[in-house]
Amino acid sequence: MFNNAKISNKFDQNEKIVLFEGDCLDLLKTIPDESIKLIVTSPPYNLGKEYEKNLEVEEYVKQQEKVITESNRVLSVNGSICWQVGNYVKNGEIVPLDILLYPIFQKLGLKMRNRIIWRFGHGFHCSKRFSGRYETIIWFTKSDNYTFNLDSVRVPQKYPQKKYYKGPKAGKYSCNPLGKNPGDVWEIPNVKSNHVEKTDHPCQFPIALIERLVLSLTNEDDWVLDPFLGTGTTIIAAIRHERRGAGAEVFSKYTDIAKNRIEKTLKGTLKTRPMLKPIYDPNIKQQILYAKEQQEHSKQSSLFGNL
Ligand SMILES: C[S@@+](CC[C@H](N)C(=O)[O-])C[C@H]1O[C@@H](n2cnc3c(N)ncnc32)[C@H](O)[C@@H]1O
Repeated sequence: MFNNAKISNKFDQNEKIVLFEGDCLDLLKTIPDESIKLIVTSPPYNLGKEYEKNLEVEEYVKQQEKVITESNRVLSVNGSICWQVGNYVKNGEIVPLDILLYPIFQKLGLKMRNRIIWRFGHGFHCSKRFSGRYETIIWFTKSDNYTFNLDSVRVPQKYPQKKYYKGPKAGKYSCNPLGKNPGDVWEIPNVKSNHVEKTDHPCQFPIALIERLVLSLTNEDDWVLDPFLGTGTTIIAAIRHERRGAGAEVFSKYTDIAKNRIEKTLKGTLKTRPMLKPIYDPNIKQQILYAKEQQEHSKQSSLFGNL
């Protein structure tokens, strides 16, 4: 963690933390070419949330194109861009935003490395389609020579102690002792009402989601930028691991929350959900009880159905 780091309101490469209140294009303009190692963000989804105007899709894509083009300019040669998106929904019809935005990244010559599925447990209960329980992170690099620190984000294997039982390697570990590659489907709880990181913002990143990207795609002291910063999660994930963090947010209501969370992070008092904390799994007794109740319920409804 950076001790005594100050929060600057404008970009300067000598700073460690930059929290810009205003339009992200105004912040991007002040950032030199190829100076940022990781750009990670979740832009507005054009759903009419309190912080966004509902635009025609073409207009939304044009606006995103401006931000993505500027982001590409400031991205270092061995850097990465991660755009975290869900669906735009109009009259019940869904449009996956990654499909809509992919051609912009492709046109800029960026190379896609993964389309990560971020799976989570809570959200809106739909009645006319299956409830949405994942979003994606599309990860692009500027070149083939990009930073990727896999060892820093390995996760425990199912059978971590597994060893070869015969042959020349008998007795030796058959798996990587540092853990396995986390894969491209990440199950990380989203920040809903009971989450320890919840603020007044309607859709914040869980810190753990961004920490995995920061650790794998940057090195210490590198710059991490979030053009749509919200509550400051990206900066928090960066400074927790000795990276520099910058971001823009238009609403003072959210920059205030971001500032407060960053200050708490620096003091070591921000409550967070640990990266490797297991997902809550209802215990087997509850599952049996639930199955019995369901059986009883279906028996009764078939009885009453005949009346
Ligand atoms: C999906 S939220 C991001 C939340 C963030 N990932 C977090 O963890 O809190 C998008 C944010 O972008 C902000 N925003 C919208 N347009 C912006 C712009 N042109 N420049 C900067 N911020 C903008 C919104 O106010 C909103 O807080």
